[in-house]
Amino acid sequence: MPVVTYLERDSDTPKVVDLRVGQSLMEGAVANRVRGIQAECGGACMCATCHVYIDGGPVNDLAPVSDEEDAMLSEAIGERRENSRLGCQVRMTAELDGLIVRIADNG
Ligand code: FES
Repeated sequence: MPVVTYLERDSDTPKVVDLRVGQSLMEGAVANRVRGIQAECGGACMCATCHVYIDGGPVNDLAPVSDEEDAMLSEAIGERRENSRLGCQVRMTAELDGLIVRIADNG
C-alpha cells in the first residue's frame, strides 16, 4: 500500500500512514485522525475544507488539477500556493507512494 506522510498544522510529529490505492488524501486523513481536514462536503469538491499542500515525494505522478478543483481552491481559507490541492480530489496510486502532505488552514 502506498505510504503518505501527513504534516499537521499544530504538531511537529509527522503521521505516516498506509493508504489504499483509490483512497483519496482526504479519506486517508479522516480515517487516520489527521487533524485539520474538515471535509464538510464529504468529498464532492464543493467546500475546499480539505485543502492541503503537497510538500514532497513523487509530485510528478499527481493527476493534474481539474477545472472544478481549480475553482474550489480559489475559495480555500488558507493561502493558495503552487502546491495546493484538494485532498478529496487526489486519489492514491501505487506511484504516489512516499507523498508528503501538509495540512492547510481549513478554519
Ligand atoms: S471535502 Fe469538500 S472539497 Fe474536498
